[in-house]
Amino acid sequence: MESKIDALREDFLSELGQAGSVADLDTIKIKYLGRKQGIVSNFLKDLPNLNPEERPLAGKLANKLKVFISGELRNKSEILEHESRSEFAGIDITLPGKYCSSGKFHPISTVKKEVESIFLRMGYAIEEGPEIETDYYNFEALNMPRNHPARDMQDTFYISDDHVLRTQTSPVQIRYMEKRKPPLRMISLGKTFRRDWDVTHTPQFYQMEGLAVDRHIHFGHLKGTLIFFLKQLFDKDIQIRFRPSFFPFTEPSAEIDISCILCKGKGCRICSGTGWLEVLGAGMVDPNVFSFVDIDSEEFTGFAFGLGIDRVAVLKYGITDSRMLYENDLRFLRQFP
Ligand code: PHE
Repeated sequence: MESKIDALREDFLSELGQAGSVADLDTIKIKYLGRKQGIVSNFLKDLPNLNPEERPLAGKLANKLKVFISGELRNKSEILEHESRSEFAGIDITLPGKYCSSGKFHPISTVKKEVESIFLRMGYAIEEGPEIETDYYNFEALNMPRNHPARDMQDTFYISDDHVLRTQTSPVQIRYMEKRKPPLRMISLGKTFRRDWDVTHTPQFYQMEGLAVDRHIHFGHLKGTLIFFLKQLFDKDIQIRFRPSFFPFTEPSAEIDISCILCKGKGCRICSGTGWLEVLGAGMVDPNVFSFVDIDSEEFTGFAFGLGIDRVAVLKYGITDSRMLYENDLRFLRQFP
């Protein structure tokens, strides 16, 4: 008796599983529970013909099955109705979703954002300029006249006699000073280009340029600003040294080194055994530069500095060949925080 009821339940469930419409459900309902010829109904009608001992259990089980079938039919009909109404009709929402990996910042972008945030906190404005520059802005107004040997320091891509791919972000200083009167504080950050290709040089790289002009600006301000900046960017415990140097647009000029962040000054592969890493060029704006932008150098002084963003990325992340920054190899790029 029990096995007969169980078999009925199994049959019902398999038919229910195949039902795809409300009409299918009606057919199933009539087949099992129909008043005249329904299988379960007939079973109940036949109860009086069974042995008296069998009757109570058979009646109980058959009634239970009837309730079960009605309940299942109701559930399934609700599901079918919902599916037909929903915007997801025909979509199996129980399938696992497509995995969408989140992007990461390129190490150059990370350094760029860090540098910008440090200078924004110091009240500097951020300015952009063209990547194709005129000879005037890239060189001449920066105190590098045509045919002057100072231009040899930068292997330049010439587009025409008068246009170059900018070799530095310094021309943005000139454009900025043309438009505004001091006091000025700005940084400019972007792509720069030189004819270089080796482990530490790529034809395209990123520079950051900074400029501050006001009355009574002196070298102490330059030192204080850059020491603060470098400690924020690298580590508050680094050593910093200023070495006399030369740039055509600053006088006096300096190059700034930090103690090697890898060996802490003991000497290693990264710092070529010297314990120091050169990170910045800087100096007091040459009065000649001011004369190109109509700023009175008797009244105003200023300082400027330049930083290689790629170089900072290479040092911070221990990258052995800076060309890898431009190969877009995901295996390389995925390693960075
Ligand atoms: N633009 C210089 C360079 O690329 C760096 C620099 C900027 C030096 C500003 C001094 C002041 O070499």
